[in-house]
Amino acid sequence: MQPIGVFDSGLGGLSVWRELVKELPNESFVYLADSAHCPYGSRPHDEITHLAVKNTEFLLSKNAKMIVVACNTATAAAIDYLRKSFSIPFIGMEPAIKPAALMSKTACVGVLATAGTFEGRLFKETSQKYAAGVKIVTSIGDGLVELVEQNLVNSKQAKLLLEKYLQPMLDCNADHIVLGCTHYPFLSELINKITGNSVILVDPASAVARRTRNQLKSLDLLAGDNTNPQYHFFTNGDLGKMQLFIDEITDIQVVTGIW
Ligand code: DGL
Repeated sequence: MQPIGVFDSGLGGLSVWRELVKELPNESFVYLADSAHCPYGSRPHDEITHLAVKNTEFLLSKNAKMIVVACNTATAAAIDYLRKSFSIPFIGMEPAIKPAALMSKTACVGVLATAGTFEGRLFKETSQKYAAGVKIVTSIGDGLVELVEQNLVNSKQAKLLLEKYLQPMLDCNADHIVLGCTHYPFLSELINKITGNSVILVDPASAVARRTRNQLKSLDLLAGDNTNPQYHFFTNGDLGKMQLFIDEITDIQVVTGIW
């Protein structure tokens, strides 16, 4: 039984993996955290593409049947190249601007993401296509990925940075904030505290999980009912830190290893 491969620059993609497991309980997963190169956010797109190819090759060596790029920045930089260069299917992250813009009553939506994601084609296209008549206020979340990697999600530093990044969105009376980086859902609690729960946070992870299921189904790649799913996690960073992080977000037993 072939697993689904998932990669991110680090631990952020676990916010996608936990939705994938809910949606696809029979599937096995191999997750790769490229923590040695985290963050990706401010790297040039060429360099991110090179890293994404390395990540893909590793997951293929683990026999992945499909790869979920659980990183908005890597999706923005590399998904077209990956689809051209490898024969297996890829699922990428999409900035959830469409649902946020459609649901907004104040006609203002905030988007928090990395510089690399804002530079990508997907962000520009979805903003133009779906957000007519809606103001999009963007903030680059510099420093947030590093804090999530250190599990400092409720720290003073995280609070100060978020207050700065969210203020322009609150000033515009945004009623939805798109979490355009897979690390940011781990900051949801703090974001809700800062906004006083006045804003709806939009995390595309569950939509990505549904898309993964649909794609597997249409390619006849879905695992059957009588499976014994396995969860393997690899990192080229700190193994102990990754294990702690996983233990905090799930009861599922996983096997961890060094890449
Ligand atoms: N989780 C990645 C994303 O969704 C973080 C990018 C980074 O490493 O800066 O964009």
